[in-house]
Amino acid sequence: SRDIIIAPSILAADFANLGAAVAAAAAAGAPWLHLDVFDGSWAACDNFSIGPPVVAALRRVAGGGLFLDCHLGLMAPGRYVERLAAAGADGITFHWEVLQGGQGGQQDEQRQGQQEAESEGGRQGGTASSIAAAATTAVAVRQLAGRIRSAGMRAGVALAPDTALPEELVELAAQGHVDMVLVMTVPPGFGGQTFRPAALEKVARLRAACPQLLVQVDGGINPATARQAAAAGADVMVAGSFLYGHPQGVAEGMEELRSALKQ
Ligand code: DX5
Ligand code: ZN
Repeated sequence: SRDIIIAPSILAADFANLGAAVAAAAAAGAPWLHLDVFDGSWAACDNFSIGPPVVAALRRVAGGGLFLDCHLGLMAPGRYVERLAAAGADGITFHWEVLQGGQGGQQDEQRQGQQEAESEGGRQGGTASSIAAAATTAVAVRQLAGRIRSAGMRAGVALAPDTALPEELVELAAQGHVDMVLVMTVPPGFGGQTFRPAALEKVARLRAACPQLLVQVDGGINPATARQAAAAGADVMVAGSFLYGHPQGVAEGMEELRSALKQ
C-alpha cells in the first residue's frame, strides 16, 4: 500500500511556543509540518495566521529535517512565492478559487492567464472569449505552479469543501503540472472543525485519474477520519487539533494515527 505522510498543523499549536511545536513534531517523527499562511485577504478564509518571517524562524528551529508545507489561504498567492522560498518553505499550496474570476479582484497571475488563454483561443479558431473563459483559471494555475517549481518548491492546488472538482484541475494534475492537490475536508480558516466526508469523492476521483499525485486532506483529521481518507486514496494527512490538542502529546497522537492507518 501507499506510504502515508502525516503533517502536523501548527495552527493548532500554542503560538507563544512555536519552537516547541516544531520540536514536538520532529521528535514524533513527523516528516512534514503544515503551515497555514493566511493574511485575512480572502473572505472564505477569514483568519490571519503567520507569514514569511515566522516561516523563516520555524525553518531555523527545524533545521533541514522537516518538509515545510505552506497552505496559502489568501487572495494573492503569487506575491508570496519568492518570499516563502527564501524563508525555507519546501512546498506551496494555493487555492483554485482565488484564481477564479469574481473573488475580490484580479491577481497578476490571473491577468496573465487571461491574456494567454485569449491568444490560445484565437489560435484554436473558437470563439476567443468562450474558450478563454473556460481556460483562464487553468492557465493561471499552471503558470503559478510553474513559478513555485522554478523557485525550487513543490506546487499544490487546494479546493475548499464547496468547490466541485474542476475537470481542468484533474487534467493539469494528470499531465504532471502540479505535485499535490489539497482536498479540504473543512472550510479553510480555523482548526477544530468537523470533517466533511463528502469531500472524499474528490479524493477518489483524483486518485483514480492520477496515481502519482500527492492527494492531501486537511481538516478534522483523527484516526477514524484518516482511515476513511486513506481508503479513498489520500496520502498526505494534515492534523492540527488532534495532534496539538492530544492529552498525551504529539508523539502519542502520531502513534495513534500511524496505527489506525496500518489496520
Ligand atoms: C484549516 C487549516 C488546517 C487546520 C486543521 O483551515 O487549513 O490546516 O489547522 O486543523 P484541524 O486538524 O484541527 O481540523
Ligand atoms: Zn491547512
